[in-house]
Amino acid sequence: MFLIITLLLFQLVYGLPFKRHIDPGKIPQYVIDHSPVVYLYAEERYLPYSIEKYVTNFYSQDVDGNNITGQLTIHDLESLGARSNASFDDIYMTSLSDFDKDPEWVTGVNNIPDIATGLLEDAPATLIVVDKGNGWVDAFWFYFYSFNLGPFVMGTGPYGNHVGDWEHSLVRFYKGEPQVVWMSAHGGGTAYKFDAMEMHKPANTKRPVLFSARGTHANYATVGQHSHDIPFYMLSDFTDRGSLWDPALNYLAYTYDGSKVTFANGTEPGREERYGKWLSYLGHWGDKKLVPSDSRQKYSPFEWKYIDGPLGPLTKNLMRIGVCQRSKWWNFMGACQIRRTLKMGEGIEAEGGGCALAFDNIKPHFLSVILRFLTWRGWGCNAIDRLVG
Ligand SMILES: *[C@@H]1O[C@H](CO)[C@@H](O)[C@H](O)[C@H]1NC(C)=O
Ligand SMILES: *[C@@H]1O[C@H](CO)[C@@H](O)[C@H](O)[C@H]1NC(C)=O
Ligand SMILES: *[C@@H]1O[C@H](CO)[C@@H](O)[C@H](O)[C@H]1NC(C)=O
Repeated sequence: MFLIITLLLFQLVYGLPFKRHIDPGKIPQYVIDHSPVVYLYAEERYLPYSIEKYVTNFYSQDVDGNNITGQLTIHDLESLGARSNASFDDIYMTSLSDFDKDPEWVTGVNNIPDIATGLLEDAPATLIVVDKGNGWVDAFWFYFYSFNLGPFVMGTGPYGNHVGDWEHSLVRFYKGEPQVVWMSAHGGGTAYKFDAMEMHKPANTKRPVLFSARGTHANYATVGQHSHDIPFYMLSDFTDRGSLWDPALNYLAYTYDGSKVTFANGTEPGREERYGKWLSYLGHWGDKKLVPSDSRQKYSPFEWKYIDGPLGPLTKNLMRIGVCQRSKWWNFMGACQIRRTLKMGEGIEAEGGGCALAFDNIKPHFLSVILRFLTWRGWGCNAIDRLVG
């Protein structure tokens, strides 16, 4: 991997001949052959949703709350995009009805993948393929959910809910062979060597398996409890083998070169043209953080209950050189670790080991607590895992 990054850097800095090997608008078959499948959480309340239908539940406003348009259609996103490009993120989609009451357009209540095939008829995924030159190709799969139910911290919450939720994964190829998988989680994510991933068994192809966490839809490579950002499971995601979603059965397809998006053909040829240049919208895909006086808003020391809707796919650093979107604050070296082994989830739903889980198994309980204390309250375990993972 080090070699890969060095080569890419060298290429960028010294402007080595940059050879593309896919034509704009053409999706190589190997991208589909090695596309991820996603297990949704069994009791997920906020399912994937169609962006075309989603946007009709909104009008648009600027950062000061002035109306820009009335009810949106997907075609309005292009002109809004021209405007959002000028000032990047000052546009919000504002909902026309109360999202807090869990209407159908928020829950996607009927969007359960077909149990036999994994087809999700009414919620296409979005595939964006970027040719990074000289044989390197990145396939970004974007998954859209109408709502992000934030985490509970020590029994209270949820915090950090937002309307609109874009998650994504990346499969990086070299000369048609899949090398690395990266998946988004809470503004960061994890990367694995492709062959370290669990593969989708019924298909005879090598397709990596992702697990979408309850409510937050953060992506993980294993089932169970995944603590994130702070140690000791104070902040955790949960994944399991709920219904299996096969995004390759229903997706929109595009290629992108860092400035230009080209329509390709996904599973419904011509649908990309019909939707138009919605990707050029760089504003927020949901309501602005509710004001404190709004009865739905709630303050906590961790985070407000409702925060800003997210920005769209083209703001996710698609021209990245390393596979990671960005590093978390604790990652002061900006390293992008690519794991060689699966990081197992923990807790009762887990299917495997893990450093902190090893502590859980130590009896008597006080010994386990002492061990955690000796490993710097769990941070040590975190560090060891990062070094040897
Ligand atoms: C802005 O648009 C919304 C939704 O159409 C409408 O309810 C509201 O009255 C509008 N505000 C102004 C100032 O026109
Ligand atoms: C945004 O605007 C700049 C110039 O202001 C232009 O070069 C760039 O291509 C635009 N990007 C998009 C995604 O439209
Ligand atoms: C997509 O399909 C349409 C209709 O089948 C065809 O006209 C068009 O050329 C195709 N586009 C690409 C980029 O292959």
